[in-house]
Amino acid sequence: MTEDSGLGSNRTRDPQTAREVEAPSPPHPIGMLAELTHRCPLGCPYCSNPLALDARGSELDTQTWARVFREAAALGVLHVHLSGGEPAARRDLVEIMAAAHESGLYTNLITSAVGITTTRLAKLADAGLDHVQISIQDSEAVSADQIAHYQGAFARKKELAAAIVRLKIPLTVNAVVHRANVDRIGAMVDLAIDLRASRVEIAHVQYYGWALRNRAALMPTAEQTARAIKTVEELRERHHGKIVIDAVAPDYYARFPKPCVGGWGRRSLNVTPAGKVLPCHAAETIPGLEFWSVRDHSLADIWAMSPSFNAFRGTDWMEEPCRSCARRDIDFGGCRCQALAITGNARAADPVCHLSALHGRMASLAAAQKNAPYVYRVFELSE
Ligand code: SF4
Ligand code: FES
Repeated sequence: MTEDSGLGSNRTRDPQTAREVEAPSPPHPIGMLAELTHRCPLGCPYCSNPLALDARGSELDTQTWARVFREAAALGVLHVHLSGGEPAARRDLVEIMAAAHESGLYTNLITSAVGITTTRLAKLADAGLDHVQISIQDSEAVSADQIAHYQGAFARKKELAAAIVRLKIPLTVNAVVHRANVDRIGAMVDLAIDLRASRVEIAHVQYYGWALRNRAALMPTAEQTARAIKTVEELRERHHGKIVIDAVAPDYYARFPKPCVGGWGRRSLNVTPAGKVLPCHAAETIPGLEFWSVRDHSLADIWAMSPSFNAFRGTDWMEEPCRSCARRDIDFGGCRCQALAITGNARAADPVCHLSALHGRMASLAAAQKNAPYVYRVFELSE
């Protein structure tokens, strides 16, 4: 049995001797995504939040978040990503930040920049803000604001980035790329350098949840994708020592899948605004999984014993071809949510993998491109 076989109970049966033995403990999580709210002023067509959003009235209060942070630190979590929606929509964001910091967690604020004034930023810095990640939609204002569905968002991002750098807080720029902007990766990296970011992430859209609705409108062509991969290699060489360039490979044109979330129930957890704890941000799309809430259970119990975390932990749940594949402890069969979305079976190999019998479907879905208007994700701050 491998250390990652991820059994939920403390007792299990040894397959060789058929004796009951102590089950190995699950590995410790390293990172936690704290989705403070689903409210967001932007309307990005590739929003990764679930289709059914948590209403404002169901959000966890400040004290509960403080307890969750303490429990996370005790469980071994090192960094917390305070995210949303837009975390700045929470009036108690400064108090939440202070609680995360006091728990000993490294704090990363993931923000659209809308709703954070320089005064509020200074308060967040005093409360223990360690790092900020700002998303950008394009390298120039008109297109960026059109993709974000928010007039003036681009200018706000530039202003906030400058304020972050003035406070000497490390900044990462996250550039989400798709057909409309993938040919401007070089310009987006130049923008990140101008903003004095220490890192830029080139993240091709992941097609789950809301993004699936806009897949045909967002999907880059095969030629664009090949060019983008080459461009990133050249940019890394050109800007070596100036900025770190991370790139997430575009799934639909790949031959092997990525180890989604570093392996299910292995390194990270997500807490939703209402308190449910998920192994990944799209886990609720998988029918039949039972998610436990921090309102009813400790984070340690949820991590070790909740049915959803144990459903795909380790490798015992796998079907062929993953079950006997040499890469099964490297990519963990890819993404469960993508396997479900494309094949209808969450246990199947991620069809990104060329060894999947359904791999051909990825190419035909990628080819089904249409210049349709975006269906924007609109969520009022007052909801
Ligand atoms: Fe990964 Fe499964 Fe493909 Fe092997 S068969 S490379 S484990 S997805
Ligand atoms: Fe759920 Fe990949 S997003 S496993």
